[in-house]
Amino acid sequence: MEKKVTVRDIVKKKGREKIVAITAYDYVTTRIVDQAGVDIILVGDSVGMVVHGLPSTIPVTMDMMLLHVESAARARPRALLVGDMPFLSYETSIEDAVYNAGLMLKKGAEAVKIEGGSEVADVVKAMVRAGIPVMGHIGLTPQRHLLIGGYRKRGVRKPEAEKIIEDAKELEKAGVFSIVIEFTAADVAEEVTREVSVPTICIGSGPSCDGQILVLHDILGLSEQTPPFAKKYADLKTIILDAVSRYAKEVREGVFPGREHSFYSEAYNSREG
Ligand code: KIV
Repeated sequence: MEKKVTVRDIVKKKGREKIVAITAYDYVTTRIVDQAGVDIILVGDSVGMVVHGLPSTIPVTMDMMLLHVESAARARPRALLVGDMPFLSYETSIEDAVYNAGLMLKKGAEAVKIEGGSEVADVVKAMVRAGIPVMGHIGLTPQRHLLIGGYRKRGVRKPEAEKIIEDAKELEKAGVFSIVIEFTAADVAEEVTREVSVPTICIGSGPSCDGQILVLHDILGLSEQTPPFAKKYADLKTIILDAVSRYAKEVREGVFPGREHSFYSEAYNSREG
């Protein structure tokens, strides 16, 4: 078996090797993406929209995340398994935040991710003090889409760009081991990558980061709505549609199940001959 990827391995990759991260939400897909050799598997709260059909990530609960983390962890991936902290699991108090992050670890996550910059620095510090590795998430923070004016590009104007760079530095000081930068101007993400010593992992924020992350269902062509920065590497929707349509046709025409998918009693065989 290949060596397990640890938080330390991820940090050491900065400036040496690109980090490949992807989401997965369950046992089956975690096994497959892990076989593909990714470095980080994120059980993202995007599961709420992608799998459960919710309108945003705001309704996602700890119970949902714990179930998905537990399922993904059963695949015992070689990649580092990160559990995403859902909305309201780390904002109400530092005690709640540490407790909820601890529950993620108890279900098999090896680190947690939280959204926000300087405003969550104290939360990050407390989690790290408790022995919980934390991944930051700045730029577009979907759990705050109501506050920040929707799912819009970030860091285009100077004050916002400066705030993103400041946030990254605060998170680094607080102890995160890596930072996701979402839907942010590529030059700003590049500046953050230069300014912090921990790896930056980008989604829709250009090529200069230390790594990239995408949502699995987006790259497989299974998402209802795909963000403009996602690249579709396969069209599984068409493949599934075709397979299920052929199955339905064969059942209706009496072609499936054939003899090879059936078994018969001895009495039947003796009647046959
Ligand atoms: O929930 C998620 O999938 C994420 C990634 C898009 C970074 O936070």
